[in-house]
Amino acid sequence: MGERPNRESSALIKAPIQQEFRATFRYPVYFTENVFARDNALFAEVVGNAGKRRVLLVVDEGVADAHPHLLNQAREYGQTFAECFELCAPPLVVPGGEQVKNDERWLREVLNATNDCGIDRHSYIVAVGGGAVLDMAGFAASIAHRGIRHVRIPTTVLSQNDSGVGVKNGINAYAKKNFLGTFAPPSAVINDIGFLQTLSSRDWRSGIAEAVKVSLIRDAAFFEQLERCAAALTARHNPAMLEIIYHCARLHVEHIANGDPFESGSSRPLDFGHWAAHKLEQLTRYELRHGEAVATGIALDTTYCGLKGMMPSAGVQRVLGLLEQLGFDLYVPALEERALMDGLEEFRQHLGGELTLMLLADIGRGLEVHEMDEPVILQSVSYLKSRHLNRQASL
Ligand SMILES: NC(=O)c1ccc[n+]([C@@H]2O[C@H](COP(=O)([O-])OP(=O)(O)OC[C@H]3O[C@@H](n4cnc5c(N)ncnc54)[C@H](O)[C@@H]3O)[C@@H](O)[C@H]2O)c1
Ligand SMILES: [Zn+2]
Repeated sequence: MGERPNRESSALIKAPIQQEFRATFRYPVYFTENVFARDNALFAEVVGNAGKRRVLLVVDEGVADAHPHLLNQAREYGQTFAECFELCAPPLVVPGGEQVKNDERWLREVLNATNDCGIDRHSYIVAVGGGAVLDMAGFAASIAHRGIRHVRIPTTVLSQNDSGVGVKNGINAYAKKNFLGTFAPPSAVINDIGFLQTLSSRDWRSGIAEAVKVSLIRDAAFFEQLERCAAALTARHNPAMLEIIYHCARLHVEHIANGDPFESGSSRPLDFGHWAAHKLEQLTRYELRHGEAVATGIALDTTYCGLKGMMPSAGVQRVLGLLEQLGFDLYVPALEERALMDGLEEFRQHLGGELTLMLLADIGRGLEVHEMDEPVILQSVSYLKSRHLNRQASL
């Protein structure tokens, strides 16, 4: 080997300059009812607290259809609070659900409106909708002008207790979920329970899966609360739902702040049950709701933990029992597709680095692992299938 030149001593090379700074992010998650009622000043205060602002409103079509007065109400609200903000254009209505993340056209529509309206970095893009519309509009807000202030008004259980209160935005590309996206905290989140009244029973139930998930990885008392109020939740009891959303949103927000908010490591504890869930959503062409797929993913991983002897079987039965009581199907035919196993590698690729998966040591106690045993996954699928067939036969 020849001698290495000493680069430090070369006259044409300097020592590196080290850059380091910290940025603090702070955003409130409000809970209200009738966000655009004239006697509710919250929204106007949120966007207009430092002078009059321009606002581009992006609304989920499913929400606009279910709340036919919403667009008018928002316009009148803008007139009432004209000193705080100005709606720069009629609300931009975009399709709800996964299609808004699958077709880039909708991202482009929001960017076009942002440009046409002269929305700048002191203006706001406000999105009203389910998790899919919030993910897409949040992504648009985070890339236009390198980041426009963004307020989320989530309208589903899932987006109020999970997706809407976090820092991730994105759309799907290359047949992969959230392939294009950003980490960009919102300026504020406003949860209005009134929106939940028009949810289909599937969407009402779907978001509860995320609450079960977060309880399982870190809060056994919350899991017990979910067991106690399962019947009330199924009966669409608003106060019970509000309690669950509030607790779950708080756990999420705390978890993000105390963990790895921009996911620079390889571990993503909040994605318990999600390696399979993301694959099931894709395999069913998004016929399954995200929360439904998460419930099945939780059932699969929990059964796996039981079969591997990582977790007591009494705990496994309680988890499966709660999910069933909430009305989730723990078995879907897509679980038997060979491609399900690709979900593990896709999950690893999304985070990069070593495969890191959150599993359970018990209810309320997450446990990270770096591999899963394929035959035991297949055994777990068989167990969920026979359990499902037995339940059907007994109905
Ligand atoms: N960013 C994150 O951290 C994160 C976390 C979890 C999930 N997600 C994403 O969230 C999306 C799922 O969100 P979701 O479960 O809220 O469902 P969704 O956004 O797919 O909406 C489901 C359906 O409900 C309709 N809808 C929304 N609000 C309504 C209301 N109040 N009344 C009547 N209909 C209404 C929508 O139009 C749509 O048809 C997925 O794309 C998922 O990947 C993101
Ligand atoms: Zn999720």
